[in-house]
Amino acid sequence: MPQGPGGVLISREEIAVRVGELGRAIAREHAGHVPLLVGVLKGAAVFMADLIRAIPAPIAMDFMGVSSYGPGTRASGAVRLTADLSVSIEGRDVVIVEDIVDTGRTLDYLRRNLETRHPRSLRVCALLDKVERRQIDVALDYVGFAIPDRFVLGYGFDLGGLYRGLPDIHVLEEQAAEKGPSASLAPSAAGST
Ligand code: PRP
Repeated sequence: MPQGPGGVLISREEIAVRVGELGRAIAREHAGHVPLLVGVLKGAAVFMADLIRAIPAPIAMDFMGVSSYGPGTRASGAVRLTADLSVSIEGRDVVIVEDIVDTGRTLDYLRRNLETRHPRSLRVCALLDKVERRQIDVALDYVGFAIPDRFVLGYGFDLGGLYRGLPDIHVLEEQAAEKGPSASLAPSAAGST
């Protein structure tokens, strides 16, 4: 049967509250400096747009393109740089903005890559943390929500390139029918609020 968005796992209202908390935490921990937020295309574009408006201080932004998934719903394991930064990050306070950390491969690759460019500091802000899928231990400084191992759609998350524009975060239709719309969702303890 065709797959599509099922029940809402995280509502737009819950996202807005948490993004506000993350934005204030980033501002607080970069007081006196202008952090460079680096969004990871394509999925983090939606989160990035909301996050920068939730930071009550000057920020700069840029994007990188990294691809790790094939057309299906599981990672292939390969990480590929598809677009690079347009500015130098040497001496800058950089915050990588990710929509989700799953196996940790993408973030591990990005961290290693950016560290070679000698930023003054390098932090990570991820909207979702799929903790139980982790294969590589990566440090996360700001996390929106820890979620169970469910495939998610909406708010930047896609299935075959579709559904990124949905305002809420949904689970896949069949999974929603099995378990209900809000299984074991919890705000993460990682990162300060
Ligand atoms: C997703 C997500 C992360 C990565 C996380 O990107 O945006 O970058 O996978 O997975 P990992 O922890 O297992 O490496 P994806 O390749 O789906 O591209 P997209 O952002 O363009 O949808």
